Amino acid sequence: MLIKQPSDIPSSEITPEAIYKARREFMRGAMSVAALGIGMSAAPRVLAEPAHVAEAEVKGPDWLKQQIASAKAAQTQLTESLTPYEHVTGYNNFYEFGYNKTDPAANAHTLTAHPWTVEIAGEVAKPGTYTLEDLLKGVALEERVYRLRCVEAWSMVVPWIGFSLADLIKRVEPTGNAKFVAFTTLERPSEMPEQKSRFSTIDWPYREGLRMDEAMHPLTTLAVGLYGKVLPNQNGAPLRLVVPWKYGFKYIKSIVKIEFTEKQPKTTWSMLAPDEYGFYANVNPQVSHPRWSQAEERRLPSGLLKPNIIPTQLFNGYAEQVAHLYKGMDLRKFY
Ligand code: MTE
Repeated sequence: MLIKQPSDIPSSEITPEAIYKARREFMRGAMSVAALGIGMSAAPRVLAEPAHVAEAEVKGPDWLKQQIASAKAAQTQLTESLTPYEHVTGYNNFYEFGYNKTDPAANAHTLTAHPWTVEIAGEVAKPGTYTLEDLLKGVALEERVYRLRCVEAWSMVVPWIGFSLADLIKRVEPTGNAKFVAFTTLERPSEMPEQKSRFSTIDWPYREGLRMDEAMHPLTTLAVGLYGKVLPNQNGAPLRLVVPWKYGFKYIKSIVKIEFTEKQPKTTWSMLAPDEYGFYANVNPQVSHPRWSQAEERRLPSGLLKPNIIPTQLFNGYAEQVAHLYKGMDLRKFY
């Protein structure tokens, strides 16, 4: 993107996630032994709690904290190591709060993420303004561990807490004319400093979109938490999109509007630099960005001595689940 690369987070700031996880696993194991009276055979997904929980306390209403705490681990979990909480919440792109990777964590505390409403509009039988609580009523949240690949060639593995966007779409009943879904981020310059900057090149608010079949795909997630906690502001509180086979710029944060449209919606990065950032933005190691290769990625945590460079996978490793959506399409043209 147009943004300069900041220095890495010093390793001294990294919480020993492995130690923490090991301790939790031990406690969970002990619980299942006590509950079942047998060996440690209980699969994590049967426990009514996310498998990965950070110690950090994040602001949010009690009902949301409780709902997040009772999320269940999804059926398919990655075996790759998780990116530590400190990196997931300390190395961000959220340009409303600044252009350095550490700016969102430093500045996003100004955002009032609770209470929150989302407008559902366009080609839909049940338009209206819904509170976050309305949207989450009766929803069984899941912990979904997905790879996140940024177009800037770094990547993470994040344990999101969320639910399939498809569940919400079904509830609001799109009409037959709904071919795309357009998403809009909050525009509130009083709380988002870059929105009032005279030097900003972004036409706020931040916008993204998906084709209807992409939006309905079960992997496409609306996230309200990560690491078993309420989503921190810098990660797009209280509601953000996660589309694991696409570049991270599709993962629009702090969503206030979801609109069903007949035409392909305009999206922030493809408006800014259409030759560099397409509407589809599917992760593809064979299609280079005009200014750099996409063949490899820097998996965080990464540093000078241990850059942790790994090959990038087609559709970010989710080809089996999503390649059929693009059958017959020229992925070089529809990048
Ligand atoms: N959403 C908004 N509203 N503003 C942004 O600047 N940046 C995008 C995406 N969503 C962005 C956004 C980009 S470029 C990336 S890579 C991801 O958020 C980063 O998500 P993360 O900070 O939680 O890792």
